[in-house]
Amino acid sequence: MAKKTSGMKIGILTAGGDCPGLNAAIRGVGKTAIVRYGMKLVGISDGFTGMITKDYRELSERDLSGILTIGGTILGTSREKPFKSNGKKKSELRKPDLIREHYEQMGLDCLVCIGGNGTLKTAGLLAQQGLNVIGIPKTIDNDVWGTDITFGFDSAVNIATEAIDRLHSTANSHKRIMLIELMGHNAGWIALYSGIAGGGDVILIPEIPYSEEKIADYLLHRASENKPYSIVVVAEGIKNPGKERSVAQYLSGKIFEMTGLETRETVLGYIQRGGTPSPMDRVLATRYGTAAADMIARHEFGNMVALKNNKIVSVPLSEVSGRLKLVDPDNPLVVQARNMGTSFGD
Ligand code: F6P
Repeated sequence: MAKKTSGMKIGILTAGGDCPGLNAAIRGVGKTAIVRYGMKLVGISDGFTGMITKDYRELSERDLSGILTIGGTILGTSREKPFKSNGKKKSELRKPDLIREHYEQMGLDCLVCIGGNGTLKTAGLLAQQGLNVIGIPKTIDNDVWGTDITFGFDSAVNIATEAIDRLHSTANSHKRIMLIELMGHNAGWIALYSGIAGGGDVILIPEIPYSEEKIADYLLHRASENKPYSIVVVAEGIKNPGKERSVAQYLSGKIFEMTGLETRETVLGYIQRGGTPSPMDRVLATRYGTAAADMIARHEFGNMVALKNNKIVSVPLSEVSGRLKLVDPDNPLVVQARNMGTSFGD
């Protein structure tokens, strides 16, 4: 028998680092919930902080118009981790209780948590405590276990690739080694994809340990072959044995010291997370959002929406929690890049 959906009250929050596509996902959940199922939508402010402080507002379908292409999140976000107790005051240990109390007081039937690994872990713990929770995976890092892709990743790869493209011409003019450091946390997905898309000569990712000597030899070999410049794409999560905050800065100095080749470094930073989502991310976030509303209508709580072989599936939050999706060093993309002469510094 079909479940009763009309009148259900859905809370929605975005937590963790922002990324392009969050508003598209909010819109996908909200429009489907309101238009298709006659549900009500409540936007929680600033991730789990809003559940702790009871900061929320009702969202009408009208409120969801015009947000598809806007970067960031209309709800705000935070890195609040309500279950983290390390060294915290007693009052802060009450946060999960407050979330449960406020969930009841707000009259919620479900809480949609849009986020990366930290958020989905919290969502799983709240589900364990009896709340009806649905997770939606987002992050530029693409490192959420259980889904082939997260939204935000494609936009970040586009931005990073454009940056690499622009470095080629200035590197060529000055005959320099250009290092570009990209985000990705402990995963190398952004560096791998934009490194390949941007024709990086060396791609360094945390999943493949590098040797400074191998990088230096490779760059000297390129120079000896009359290749006047090189692009080194560096994932932020690779080992940084130096004192410099940026690993690209450390390696830049090392490479100059070891090769005598002139080097420069660029740390791309938060630009990778800002601005309008790519069309692919708008589509993916919309697919995830609408699928989440369908899952709520079927009362399939405790799950995360995911993409497997281009099909929407649901994965239990309990399986996602505490796991990371890293680049397999034998990933076909790595193998293909190696076969074309790209160095991974090993
Ligand atoms: O998870 C997304 C991400 O941008 C990572 O790539 C990066 O390591 C981290 O967030 C930066 O976090 P913050 O916004 O807290 O500085």
